[in-house]
Amino acid sequence: MRTSPHFLDWENKPLLFKIYPTLEVMRLPKDFRETGRAALDAIPTPGAQASNDAIPNLETLAQLLFFSAGVVRSKRQDHIETFFRAAACTGALYEIELYVICTDLPGETLPGANSFGLAAGVYHFGVAEFGLRQLRAGDFRQTLVEATGGDPSIAHAPVTIICTGAYWRNAWKYRSRTYRHFGWDNGTILANLLAMSEATKLPAKVVTGFVDSQINELLSLDTKREVAFSLVPIGYQQSTPSDPPKTSPLNLPIVPYSTEEVDYPAMRKMHEASSLESASEVAAGRGKTPSLVVPPAKGTTTSLLLPSDSIPQDSIEKVIARRGSTRQFSRESITLSQLSLALDRATRGIPADFLDPIGSHLNDLYLIVNNVDGLPPGAYFYHWEKKALELLKPGDFRDRAGFLGLEQQLPADAAVDVFFLADLKKILERYGNRGYRATQLEAGILGGKLYLAAYAQRLGASGLTFYDDDVVNFFSPHARGKSAIFLVALGGSALRK
Ligand SMILES: Cc1cc2nc3c(=O)[nH]c(=O)nc-3n(C[C@H](O)[C@H](O)[C@H](O)COP(=O)(O)O)c2cc1C
Repeated sequence: MRTSPHFLDWENKPLLFKIYPTLEVMRLPKDFRETGRAALDAIPTPGAQASNDAIPNLETLAQLLFFSAGVVRSKRQDHIETFFRAAACTGALYEIELYVICTDLPGETLPGANSFGLAAGVYHFGVAEFGLRQLRAGDFRQTLVEATGGDPSIAHAPVTIICTGAYWRNAWKYRSRTYRHFGWDNGTILANLLAMSEATKLPAKVVTGFVDSQINELLSLDTKREVAFSLVPIGYQQSTPSDPPKTSPLNLPIVPYSTEEVDYPAMRKMHEASSLESASEVAAGRGKTPSLVVPPAKGTTTSLLLPSDSIPQDSIEKVIARRGSTRQFSRESITLSQLSLALDRATRGIPADFLDPIGSHLNDLYLIVNNVDGLPPGAYFYHWEKKALELLKPGDFRDRAGFLGLEQQLPADAAVDVFFLADLKKILERYGNRGYRATQLEAGILGGKLYLAAYAQRLGASGLTFYDDDVVNFFSPHARGKSAIFLVALGGSALRK
């Protein structure tokens, strides 16, 4: 890092939004009715299967988009206005774009009203204007069904949200490391989207298996610059779609992100290497999650301490609206129940095509506990199924945590640092290269859930970058052979005080 000649060319900083200037924008309603669903109840998202129709109306769709990727606040500094969004994102560069593929959706569902909401089509979510731009008219859901090898959640979903990653928008700062950020930054958005779907009583699932070219062509993406990363079918409809209209390239102009874009071919190479070319390849990658071999606990274990009452009840919308990455932790302690609630809510399972049975996972959690009442400081392994923390080595590791988290102060000051590590070898053996995308995305979702569970308890959180091999070495021999995937720090905010 220190020998790298890379510097930030501020004059060439990319625009934070994708804008199709030749398409009219249809503004979305913003006067949402609050779901009232407590965030700590919505975060776990069990992924219930619906058997009755559950079709979002336009207002609910707008609500889902706003609380997943909408602009929730802005800040002006040195004449630059930054528009912060509902979900955390590396460098606040917001390279993940959202698209909506839907059948006809109803409008208001007030008693007696059945006004028309949104016509079947393919839309881009214009974050800047909080609106939709129609890229294609008609019902294209069957294209998604074919691209996902007949995924039943997609087939029965009235709406699917497609998330893409725009390379240059993040690579301006992070160069080819951006490829990992696609998974993380998409993951934090999905943590919000899953919680909001739960709060609005709509089934939702994360789908990572699809024939890449079919989805990219549907959105008419210039794949040198932007690629589809994940799909989220939302809602349920008994009927399934019929043949889609024909598609041809759209060749729509977009407002340039920068004067000049730098290409980092390693990212495209990585993406191509994990691309799927046929429905049978997609089907082969579904479920059958490899079971993780967890060595029996050798050290002292402490069970999570889950409170049965006085659980904070702030709604998921309130929590998302006040979330922000903590810029300075207070070094004060948090309680074991606060940590327990955060870990429990984040790890109750993600409904995803690569995770079967529900509750299985690709990432393991390792912790550095700096200051948690009732838990001696030290390095821990989280026994997911047993909901218990095993002490791997006791000690004050604040300085070490600071070093591991890319020599930043945040992980040293946090009450606890949660590291995500995965056995990539085993994962790639099962899923092929596509498993790499799934692992990064899962870590981003888990991290996003931790963010929400912390803010629901009026604690702070921040995603962090780290020194990969040093993290693995620190948690070894337990973590030997695994790869460091992601890191989230939790604790009280010094600035709030
Ligand atoms: C995956 C991920 C990694 C991050 N890494 C760092 C980091 O290393 N250092 C840091 O100060 N902030 C980090 N952040 C926080 C972002 O800078 C922050 O999310 C972004 O500026 C947007 O602000 P907000 O989260 O307050 O909305 C990270 C966030 C995410 C999601």
